[in-house]
Amino acid sequence: MQVKVISTNSGKFAEISKFFEGLDVQLEMQKLELLEIQADTLEAVVSRKLASVEESVGNCLVDDSGLFIDALSGFPGVYSSYVYRTIGVNGICKLMRGVENRSAHFECLFGFRINGRDYFFKGECTGEITDNPRGSGGFGFDPIFVPEGYSQTFAELPIEEKNRISHRGRALQHLRKFLENLLEKS
Ligand code: IMP
Repeated sequence: MQVKVISTNSGKFAEISKFFEGLDVQLEMQKLELLEIQADTLEAVVSRKLASVEESVGNCLVDDSGLFIDALSGFPGVYSSYVYRTIGVNGICKLMRGVENRSAHFECLFGFRINGRDYFFKGECTGEITDNPRGSGGFGFDPIFVPEGYSQTFAELPIEEKNRISHRGRALQHLRKFLENLLEKS
């Protein structure tokens, strides 16, 4: 089975490929800039992204993720990449200065079109926002997020450990199970 991963991010493609290892699936990265609508939920963003992929592309995978901070009513959420590019991790630390409730979570949603039908797979990872950035691994908001049950930030954890517990890793585990069942039946 062939699946096109619609993304411009080769790091993400490599991460996704790892989760498909051992399955009879040929992944191919397709660098398409998809329309990303302004919406309040990842569900709305991802379903519109998937709907904007032409049918001729065939089996494909799109995704979106974000960091949702409780004390900021879910901000930056669906605006995470914009907020990361503008105020960045230091800006978030500033907004959170003196705030007692540090709870936050990452969410990731994959939209998967297979044989003309669309399916969605979600993963979450809860944790806390640090006072200051720590660590040099990972990307995005990794240096300011400590997952529940850990004392290190995502940026301080080995990448394999992050992938095991992260929002993206969890969503991909659901997706892999779905594919395993589908391939068994066919
Ligand atoms: P994307 O939809 O996966 O590209 O993620 C949107 C934005 O959310 C990224 O630009 C990051 O700022 C943030 N983000 C998503 N996933 C992660 C993660 O695993 N670690 C840190 N930041 C993330």
